[in-house]
Amino acid sequence: MNRQTELRLIKEILALKQEGKTQYHESTQTLSTERYISEQWYQKEQDALFKNRPMAIGLANEIPEIGDYQAIDWVNGISLLVVRDKNNQVRVFANACRHRNSRLVDNNSSGCKRRFSCPYHAWTYNTEGELIGAPEFESGFSDLDKKNLGLIEFNSRVISGIIYLHFDLNQQVPDNILAEEMISGFDYLNLEKQLVYKRRSYTIKANWKILLEGGIEAYHFNVAHKSTLAPFFLGNLSTWETWGRLDLRMILPKKPMLDALDLPESQWQIRKMANIIYSISPSMLFLVQPDNISLIKMIPLSKGETRIDEVLLVDASVNGGNNWTPEEEKTHETNHNLVNKILMEDWVLGESIQANMEGGAVNQVHFGRFESALIWFHQQYDNAFSESQPLRPPARKL
Ligand code: FES
Ligand SMILES: [Fe+2]
Repeated sequence: MNRQTELRLIKEILALKQEGKTQYHESTQTLSTERYISEQWYQKEQDALFKNRPMAIGLANEIPEIGDYQAIDWVNGISLLVVRDKNNQVRVFANACRHRNSRLVDNNSSGCKRRFSCPYHAWTYNTEGELIGAPEFESGFSDLDKKNLGLIEFNSRVISGIIYLHFDLNQQVPDNILAEEMISGFDYLNLEKQLVYKRRSYTIKANWKILLEGGIEAYHFNVAHKSTLAPFFLGNLSTWETWGRLDLRMILPKKPMLDALDLPESQWQIRKMANIIYSISPSMLFLVQPDNISLIKMIPLSKGETRIDEVLLVDASVNGGNNWTPEEEKTHETNHNLVNKILMEDWVLGESIQANMEGGAVNQVHFGRFESALIWFHQQYDNAFSESQPLRPPARKL
């Protein structure tokens, strides 16, 4: 985000505030609850949005050192093994042994390894995914070639520090997947240099879209977050922009933004005056606060269950790296807990919504004109369905 954009975004909010408006859609939108509760719909959605399109899965800095890995429980039971290889490249493999399919490391585990040895019969792979050892291979598998038994690797690409992958092994992640303005916004945040302070993972019993929706509207702040967010924000006021896909940047102004009226423009700083949300297709949010960024991944496990990964990203310590001072540690810990408290206010509502939708007494939802980002989201989502290709299973890498 350049300085001109920063000033423009602040001016837009101030103008709306003065007029007592927010960013409206021309009309309301009514949708059937089918898209949240139908098993058939869910399968169609997984193919259209998660399997046949490049998608963001996390940040390269979640695995900062050579040999660092994360096993991610991804959609439809697929376990991903994200590894930083010996050449400092991020690679994404299927967390599945080529012998008889055992997971190499536990789902949702992380750590640092130079070798991944299967817990079943000890077939062993390096950080590049090559099979480098297998007990009694020569006598038992003499007609197979180890060179052809490396881990299945997905095509991936790191852009602005974000790891993208394509599930279709025949498809690449395009290098222009992220709009210039989004890249510029992430440069402004120094996203590539952010360090992971801590993470939390858990499962919520709600469709991922219900949870994401809570992240891109401010209508609920004064009610659902009345003692946490409401005292600091300007109520139901927000602006947002998109540059395609399900990518969006939303500005949620805080009370200090009104001080801008009495300050010279040279002192306007959007990060102090607003929270910024970046929503990255299909289901990742960055919540930008003055001194940290929360990365919130919403991973669909089923139509009514979503795995949440909360990652608190912070600047390097004044001592260097993650050698936090006691004050830094205290600040980060407080923020890590506060974000969780606020999210839980949303997630409890998400579970009640899902349960009611499943109950079926009310089979529609209505989005108001000021919930305009939700209307846009569902339009884009519907477009993704019509553009989607039939699912092709990953070709075997032989
Ligand atoms: S399944 Fe992995 S070594 Fe047998
Ligand atoms: Fe919320």
